[in-house]
Amino acid sequence: MTNLVILGTQWGDEGKGKIVDALAGESHFKAVVRYQGGNNAGHTVVAGGETHAFHLLPSGVLHADKTCVIGNGVVIDPHVLAQELSRLEDRVGLAHARLLISDKAHLILPWHVLRDRISGERIGTTGRGIGPAYGDYVTRRGIRWADTGDRERFRRRLEEEADWNRYQVAALLDFYRVSTGDRNELQIDDALNVDRVWSRCWPDVQAIRGNPAVRSGDAGAFLEDLRSGGASILFEGAQATLLDIAHGTYPFVTSSHPTLGGVYVGTGIRPDPLQVLGVAKAYTTRVGAGPFPTELDDELGEHIRQAGHEYGTTTGRPRRCGWLDLTILRYARRVNGLNELALTKLDVLSNLPALRVASAYRIDGQLRSEFTVDEGELSRAEVQYTDLPGWAGDLGKAKSYLDLPNAARAYIQFIEDEVKVPVTMVSTGPGREQLLRR
Ligand code: IMP
Repeated sequence: MTNLVILGTQWGDEGKGKIVDALAGESHFKAVVRYQGGNNAGHTVVAGGETHAFHLLPSGVLHADKTCVIGNGVVIDPHVLAQELSRLEDRVGLAHARLLISDKAHLILPWHVLRDRISGERIGTTGRGIGPAYGDYVTRRGIRWADTGDRERFRRRLEEEADWNRYQVAALLDFYRVSTGDRNELQIDDALNVDRVWSRCWPDVQAIRGNPAVRSGDAGAFLEDLRSGGASILFEGAQATLLDIAHGTYPFVTSSHPTLGGVYVGTGIRPDPLQVLGVAKAYTTRVGAGPFPTELDDELGEHIRQAGHEYGTTTGRPRRCGWLDLTILRYARRVNGLNELALTKLDVLSNLPALRVASAYRIDGQLRSEFTVDEGELSRAEVQYTDLPGWAGDLGKAKSYLDLPNAARAYIQFIEDEVKVPVTMVSTGPGREQLLRR
């Protein structure tokens, strides 16, 4: 029995969906679980020549014999979930999905999206209502999935919260000095009129709850039963370590806990040790605002963006690109207790004459091997780079690790030696077969 967590080590978009899809196929895993985040995530899985982008459904959903679980730490936009289920039904049939939704998961409602669109620009959020939904959760104004199980109760909760949101939105519009024209564009009435919110959300809730592949309940108890029966569970992180609300580059973070601790709080599983696989891209990217010491704001950065198709799965925004930063991976190792690493998109670095890797920072005259999330320290950090030779050719054709060019293997070995975590998987392209195990 191995209960495994797959999580991001950088600023997200490391290619976690592909790794989850690859491992979820192993027969001992009986459940694949999302424990935080919402449809700010976009996990791409290429299977049978088709590309699937999952925002809320766990990436394990393409495997027929697994139960997929949306844990209590996830925020659910019912419209997005209903659409995602119906799309999956059209494309692969739903004999497939067995989905369990935690009754304790909180909802993203139209007013959360509206509030995010008014106030999220400072951080460069995905505009999906994530921050406001988690905000209502911790200030005890949230509506939970359990509330949708009863028509009258859901309607009552919507009425209570619509009132409160009208005040919130009026204050936000004033604070952010939103002009009259922009106010029209925001479709404020649609998001705050309780009848409209009802007529948008209730059919989605009914579609989800009425779907024979879906059930709702105590996901923590379900997982505990699985585990005590000897089955293995796979936990799928969204976003990543440096976007963690506590451990990331605050305030340029998301509002949940993608790090290991989030698994326990976001599912209710008891805190026994878990195996942790960190996913790291062979270079670094970030979407939205915030510090990024190894960013390449030049032609090379643009080359990586094009070669790596570095545009957001959720928003289509161009991602900022830069060199791999080992201080970040060491930080992720400490915060998450990484047991192994999967290195993704190594093929994107092919055909560059030379490569650079950040191996330490010099801050106030001191050499630091681990990343800091302190804004002041980061602003004074001088990145210490190590230069490594590049390689030529198409790595996507390699059938085994030994088929990789020497310089590519040396790059991987350097990471492993410096971070002191074994690199057990290397992804060399989007296809399921382009994953080399070591
Ligand atoms: P939010 O999660 O929409 O509130 O956005 C907060 C920050 O997290 C922004 O910088 C987003 O670009 C970033 N973010 C959220 N989800 C993802 C993701 O799945 N990949 C990469 N960045 C993300």
